[in-house]
Amino acid sequence: MVCLGNICRSPLAHGLLEQKANALDLSWEVDSAGTSAYHVGHLPDKRSIDIAAEHGLDITHQRARQFVVEDFDQFDLIFAMDAQNFSHIKNMARSDDEVKKVHLILNETYPGENRRVPDPYYGGEQGFKKVFDLLDEAMDRLIGRLTETA
Ligand code: 4NP
Repeated sequence: MVCLGNICRSPLAHGLLEQKANALDLSWEVDSAGTSAYHVGHLPDKRSIDIAAEHGLDITHQRARQFVVEDFDQFDLIFAMDAQNFSHIKNMARSDDEVKKVHLILNETYPGENRRVPDPYYGGEQGFKKVFDLLDEAMDRLIGRLTETA
């Protein structure tokens, strides 16, 4: 799960998918990263920690890191929160197969619409609620899609 800073959106995506996958005994490796190095080593934003905690999800073990090209070796699927992250990651891909690993997360909920998860960093708490709800649904859809043929 990839956003810009790896402190607001992708930590919520990471935490939600990890919790849901674990609850279903899916042994998936879930991680998150940012395309920027702005917040490397930092805890998630307090507003993300708070909205997650309100829903019983603890994301305080996470620390921000920057996306690296080796992530293409480690992960089968890479989800970007918006078009900027999506292009950034795709431009780092070393092959067509790596390009094909990269998707926009909200296309799980709204196929083909290329919607973005709005960046809540400069807004208020309401933005974080919206991001949480969007990602909560997207992770359910993603799990449904990936497990239906399993
Ligand atoms: P994120 O939000 O990409 O969802 O983690 C942001 C965090 C930090 C900044 C921008 C967006 N920033 O400019 O520092």
